[in-house]
Amino acid sequence: MRVFITGVCGFVGSSLAESLMATFSGMEIVGIDNLCRSGSELNRSRLNALSVEVRHGDIRCRSDIETIPAAEWVIDCAALPSVLAGTDGHGSARQLVEHNLIGTLNLLDYCRQHNSGLILLSTSRVYSIRDLCSLPLIAEDGAFRLQSEELQIPHVGPEGLTEQFSTTPPISLYGATKRASEIMAEEFSEAFGFPLRIDRCGVIGGAGQFARPDQGIFSFWVHSFAVRRPLKYIGFGGTGHQVRDVLHPRDLSRLIAAQIKAGDDKSKPRLMHVSGGLTSARSLKQITQWCESRFSSHAIDVDCTPRQFDVPWLVLDSGLAKRAWGWEPTISTENILSEIADHATDNPDWLMTTSG
Ligand SMILES: NC(=O)c1ccc[n+]([C@@H]2O[C@H](COP(=O)([O-])OP(=O)(O)OC[C@H]3O[C@@H](n4cnc5c(N)ncnc54)[C@H](O)[C@@H]3O)[C@@H](O)[C@H]2O)c1
Repeated sequence: MRVFITGVCGFVGSSLAESLMATFSGMEIVGIDNLCRSGSELNRSRLNALSVEVRHGDIRCRSDIETIPAAEWVIDCAALPSVLAGTDGHGSARQLVEHNLIGTLNLLDYCRQHNSGLILLSTSRVYSIRDLCSLPLIAEDGAFRLQSEELQIPHVGPEGLTEQFSTTPPISLYGATKRASEIMAEEFSEAFGFPLRIDRCGVIGGAGQFARPDQGIFSFWVHSFAVRRPLKYIGFGGTGHQVRDVLHPRDLSRLIAAQIKAGDDKSKPRLMHVSGGLTSARSLKQITQWCESRFSSHAIDVDCTPRQFDVPWLVLDSGLAKRAWGWEPTISTENILSEIADHATDNPDWLMTTSG
């Protein structure tokens, strides 16, 4: 079987390529990456050693995709994945749309042409920032949590948001490109009949991630802590109580392997959450406490000014994935943090190499 992975040199793309090569005998993986993410070039030799064919190319460019041989499945891991992309001076809004949406359209054409299945990695940032900021929260043990007596909110349960939570704008430019990609993928799959799975992920984290404050926050925090780089709690009263869940890419890979094996099983959901869920969720303050026990204390600055697009609590309920696929994450947050900390200790210059 041949699988085509876009963004194959990225954190998630390279992890999936490695896991899928180990899972399927006779697997052939061809990947494309334009190496625009600092650090992505570091994964090239590792992938070549695994016999993954890595092509330097860009999904915005149709002719780069036209030369890829027919694959049974496409896994789309190429994107500018930051919620600040297009607004923070690193590239324009138009470039963001070209990478994240026009790139997806080119892949949809490829899938239509070859009848390839598509696995689209989407994000929890498709959800309404206004509605997320209106959730009734209380602070407890250094973290925001939902007020349990207030759980009459549409599409929020004790385990987090369900897939029906509001996607009403504002959702950020990044969120908009991913939501638009989801919709276009659903329409192409419906119109042309190729298989589609949309895996809407919360934070994904682990060793080897190219961390920045606006993307890969668990990894960024641990790496910064390890080498005593300045850190600050932004917004939310400067408490660091804001919470996200986290998933290891190997857990994502187990699900994707099952999705590939199931082919076009129409009894399975097309779109669902794939996340670490409530048990994995931690606040910045709690990650700090973990880092203090692993390293030693490190002063955290405070900037109470709210930052655009920030949300206080974003936890995805992945109950649908459990019911449909029998899938649950197996790698704990503590193991994810330990893995990142080991990597940080072995690679003290990591943030400088990969933060561009
Ligand atoms: N990491 C997370 O926490 C997270 C969470 C939810 C969803 N996602 C999604 O998962 C996917 C992968 O994210 P990641 O964390 O591996 O990001 P990453 O930045 O590590 O990897 C993305 C890769 O895509 C490449 N790329 C970007 N634009 C390209 C283009 N036009 N053509 C070819 N290659 C291009 C980059 O060079 C990079 O190697 C993205 O779609 C992202 O939206 C990630």
